Amino acid sequence: MNYNRKILTLDEFTIQQLREIPHSTGELSSLLRDLGLAAKRVNVEVNKAGLVDILGDAGSINVQGEDVKKLDLYANDQFMGALRHGISCAGIASEELDDFVAFDDVVSNQSKYVCLFDPLDGSGNIDVNVSIGTIFGVYRRVTEKGSPATKADFLQQGLKQVAAGYIVYGSSTMLVYATRRGVNGFTLDPSIGEFTMSNPDIKCPPDGNIYSVNHGHFFRYPKGVQDYITLCQKKEKENGGPYTQRYIGSMVSDVHRNLIKGGIFMYPGTTNKPQGKLRLMYECNPFAFILEVAGGRATDGTRRILEIEPTELHQRSPMYIGSRHMMDELEDCL
Ligand code: AHG
Ligand code: MN
Ligand code: MN
Repeated sequence: MNYNRKILTLDEFTIQQLREIPHSTGELSSLLRDLGLAAKRVNVEVNKAGLVDILGDAGSINVQGEDVKKLDLYANDQFMGALRHGISCAGIASEELDDFVAFDDVVSNQSKYVCLFDPLDGSGNIDVNVSIGTIFGVYRRVTEKGSPATKADFLQQGLKQVAAGYIVYGSSTMLVYATRRGVNGFTLDPSIGEFTMSNPDIKCPPDGNIYSVNHGHFFRYPKGVQDYITLCQKKEKENGGPYTQRYIGSMVSDVHRNLIKGGIFMYPGTTNKPQGKLRLMYECNPFAFILEVAGGRATDGTRRILEIEPTELHQRSPMYIGSRHMMDELEDCL
């Protein structure tokens, strides 16, 4: 087959970027390759989730008190395993684990980075064949190399991320990742098993007309959020016609669509859960980083998500994220 050599694979792209950064060691590209490998393994299982016995609850409950699906555990093991065996990661923290894991071996203790991830986001959608995803954020460790990673390496503000990304296991499987240099999207080409560049230099349109929120909780949202949703219902698109409401229930897919098309995604606090549902370290921070690099914004209603000083690995935060001008309008209502 005649492959177009202008289309870069994920590995080719990260290596090419490396050449442009003087004194870089290649550890970050190597870490991204480990994540890409884990993603391909998870993708294989996700694709056959309807066939084999990996559906349904694993019978345990995660640290946040939610049912854990079997595929969540599988994905967790794949990402943790790939990073443990790689050379770039000193330790991980995952939505599925009570505490962080310092790999603590001779190679890992010398590694520059730690990674935090939600191995399978939207897992409630597995049984019904709806897109799910993985979310990750990468930080440079703050403790000295040569010793195991500690909690301080993980509890960093989101703006300290050096890279963040997500994988959507959808109608096709995509890996999107951001560094300060830009956001790029790669689609898995199943014929060669490689992520290949499909969406170079993604920018979030400053305007949009899609709003994504769980409408069922409307009467439990703060008044300002109710006002904004009502505004969206009354607004007209520039070329006529009403705004569109879209909510899949997999944040990865919802935010991915809004990043590409322009829109806003909201998971507000409610009267019974003032901090909402989403986890700052595994869900909010990576997406806030990606959207900001792409020209969008992310807040918890009052603060920039990336500036929140974390106090616990599993802390939750309300989340408003999306196109710049829609975020401005939301803030006027809040
Ligand atoms: P997870 O499957 O990792 O627990 O996260 C699911 C999250 C997020 O992806 C989604 O936007 C949200 O939960 C949906 O929650 P509601 O059903 O409460 O709207
Ligand atoms: Mn999640
Ligand atoms: Mn999850």
